[in-house]
Amino acid sequence: MSNRAEPFFSMEKEDIVGNSQNPDTHIYRLKENGLAVRHMLIDSGKVQEPQHILLLSDTHLSTWNLRDFEEKNPCVLECIDKRRSTFRREDALENTERIMSYAHLFDKVIVAGDVIDYLTWGAVDYIQRFIYDKAPDAMVLLGSHDVTRVMGHTLPDPTTLASREDIIRTVVKTDIYYHSEILAEKILLIGLGNGQSKYNVSQAERLKADIKRAKEENLDILIFQHEPICTHNPEEKEIKALYTSSTGSWYVTDTLNFCDYAKRIGGAESDEATMQVYQLITENADVVKAVFCGHWHNTAFTEIHGSFMENGVKKDAVIPQYVGNAAAYDKGHITIITVK
Ligand SMILES: [Fe+2]
Repeated sequence: MSNRAEPFFSMEKEDIVGNSQNPDTHIYRLKENGLAVRHMLIDSGKVQEPQHILLLSDTHLSTWNLRDFEEKNPCVLECIDKRRSTFRREDALENTERIMSYAHLFDKVIVAGDVIDYLTWGAVDYIQRFIYDKAPDAMVLLGSHDVTRVMGHTLPDPTTLASREDIIRTVVKTDIYYHSEILAEKILLIGLGNGQSKYNVSQAERLKADIKRAKEENLDILIFQHEPICTHNPEEKEIKALYTSSTGSWYVTDTLNFCDYAKRIGGAESDEATMQVYQLITENADVVKAVFCGHWHNTAFTEIHGSFMENGVKKDAVIPQYVGNAAAYDKGHITIITVK
């Protein structure tokens, strides 16, 4: 362990699900404040010092400010008027503060979408205050909530998706559709915007170039995005959550089809560009070492049935896909990724 993260790892903990013998299915909580933690190890064998990444998603921060009342968007006014309360609990804010109080101990902070509950100028300020003020170089990815104002109510939004994305770009520092950066010289962190359940041609081109680079420079790729993708793993047609929140109610379901649900990325209804990115991820399992996402608001571990080419021969390989719980739930949920 690097000394920097030591204060986090030395805190007292208790198991919630499983045990440390099997990290893929292990969740513990910090005794001090109840924060739920998964700790994944990526054994690259390529970095000199262990690197520790703090991953959270689905913080669903929500508020409004004077600019929202000046703008008078009918959807925002309706949400305020009807007191949309699904995630507008104090604990969503408290959980984010609790999690981000550890940000300085980690080599990278990544927020994998649904950072805010619905788009307001107040929520945009919250992204700065609760995320970037604590981790100025955080990688922030978007889910569907970050660019919508129609949330739980009925009035249509007169604005375009492109105009709402431009509002988010006033605070999010990295490209909202594609961002890649190197960690410790050998790990390529790639953030993909897939909050609309699809990818685009530009993402495919950039991912293709990064995969080429990874193969040439002997890099390992970790993919971060909001929505999980199909695993095409026949044993995952009815995935049970490892952990379902006691305080959250959204998306609580007995099982979910991660294998080949038609509307999921990589499923039968995916368009051409989406399938192109899907195949780039799943057919380069020699360099794509793991996929991390949120969205489901339940904790899950899945295994993508992927492949790669070696000397002209296609070889099967599994890519682990880690689905994180909502940071807004319970006392907060995070995933720690240690790259060795
Ligand atoms: Fe969410």
